[in-house]
Amino acid sequence: MAYKTVKGTYDMLPDRMIRFNMLSDLFRQFLNLYGYAEIKTPVFEYTGVFQKENDTSDMVTKEMYTFSPNGKDSLTLRPEGTAGVIRSFVENKMYGNLELPVKLGYIEEMFRHERPQKGRQRQFTQMGIECIGDKDPLIDAEVIALGYFYIKTLGLESVKVLINSLGDNESRLNYKNELIEYFKPHKDELCFDCQNRLEKNPLRILDCKIDSGSAVVAGAPKMKLSSESEKYFEQVKHYLDVMNIPYEVDDRLVRGLDYYTDTVFEVVSTNEASGSQATIFGGGRYDNLVEEMGGPSISGIGFAIGMERLMILCDAEEIFDIKNSIDAYVVNLNETKDYALGIAEELRNNSFTCEMDYYGRSLKAQFKSSERKNARFILIVGDDEIKDNVVTLKDTLTKAQETVKRDELVDRMDQLMEDYYE
Ligand code: HAM
Repeated sequence: MAYKTVKGTYDMLPDRMIRFNMLSDLFRQFLNLYGYAEIKTPVFEYTGVFQKENDTSDMVTKEMYTFSPNGKDSLTLRPEGTAGVIRSFVENKMYGNLELPVKLGYIEEMFRHERPQKGRQRQFTQMGIECIGDKDPLIDAEVIALGYFYIKTLGLESVKVLINSLGDNESRLNYKNELIEYFKPHKDELCFDCQNRLEKNPLRILDCKIDSGSAVVAGAPKMKLSSESEKYFEQVKHYLDVMNIPYEVDDRLVRGLDYYTDTVFEVVSTNEASGSQATIFGGGRYDNLVEEMGGPSISGIGFAIGMERLMILCDAEEIFDIKNSIDAYVVNLNETKDYALGIAEELRNNSFTCEMDYYGRSLKAQFKSSERKNARFILIVGDDEIKDNVVTLKDTLTKAQETVKRDELVDRMDQLMEDYYE
């Protein structure tokens, strides 16, 4: 029986892996630049880590992979990174042991039972950060800056930053009640999901994919921020201006998860290749989550970038310029294999990428291989070379060929590489 990958999952084949590693390497550099330390939390947690009382998000109510291996504990494959990181922050008492804000980053697989489509899988990777500590607008702006400048450093053009404020607990509660009153007489005009959301989380109606274009939603009242939240949001925008980060205020941006307060943001692609899954990354502040998870009353803010969506956009904008090549290929005869192996190992010890023929194939076949592998140098090792303790070195860029003493090979290759790029 031949098996296939499970729906919504995919193999990361080598050409994808190269891109994945390039994107994650650069992300790690950005973590470092902004003072974030990397963290890894378990792939599964107790379900309560993700599921809070009265949770209304689709992710928690419909999309979690929950299981109970012993019929007792309820466990869930993590659908997102924030909750696990906060669980770890609290469990390891980082608030007492480390200087605040604690800045943590992660690159990890997430699992959501969503309907798969381009840019939406059931297993996907998020690159995320969480900055947990005192609340300050400068932190919000810096978190957005990390993500924005990462995207810009990749060279992506067709993206825009959307920001909004969901206000503090009190202004959000008032707004929620105002929306319920407003939408109640229009309940029949809303989609099935929004009819269910109406009492529990009417804010989500504002960015519902089905209803958001309707006249009812267009006429909904706008959020009135408390003067403190208003001031806070103005400060966040001020710091974004100072860093020359362009943004649009989108007062319909509410985000899909329940824990957000005050600042929320998304970076969306305007490239049509992204299709309906245009949100490359999203995040926001969460004032209550740390306390809800049993920790002190400390706020946090973060975001997560969807790796697969980022790759789709990078492909569309032809960001990747990948040439697979090696430094050297050692052409050898069956009887010179040991000598060739010594050379290959010495080159690898000196950080040259190197391959050699394993099978005793014809010289013609070996030259073909070296071409396919795009080798900069071809090293030829025959009986004569062994007798004279030398190597024949062919530079495929300059087409020059020379005989090099065995113990001078590494220095000579170093020199040729340097000369060429000067
Ligand atoms: P989220 O908006 O649910 O936020 O997900 C963040 C990003 O993950 C999305 O913008 C998208 O790029 C990617 N993503 C989500 N679901 C899928 C999927 N099924 N397939 C492919 N990519 C997907 C969070 O998860 C929050 N934890 C972000 C955050 C961190 N907020 C504060 N800190």
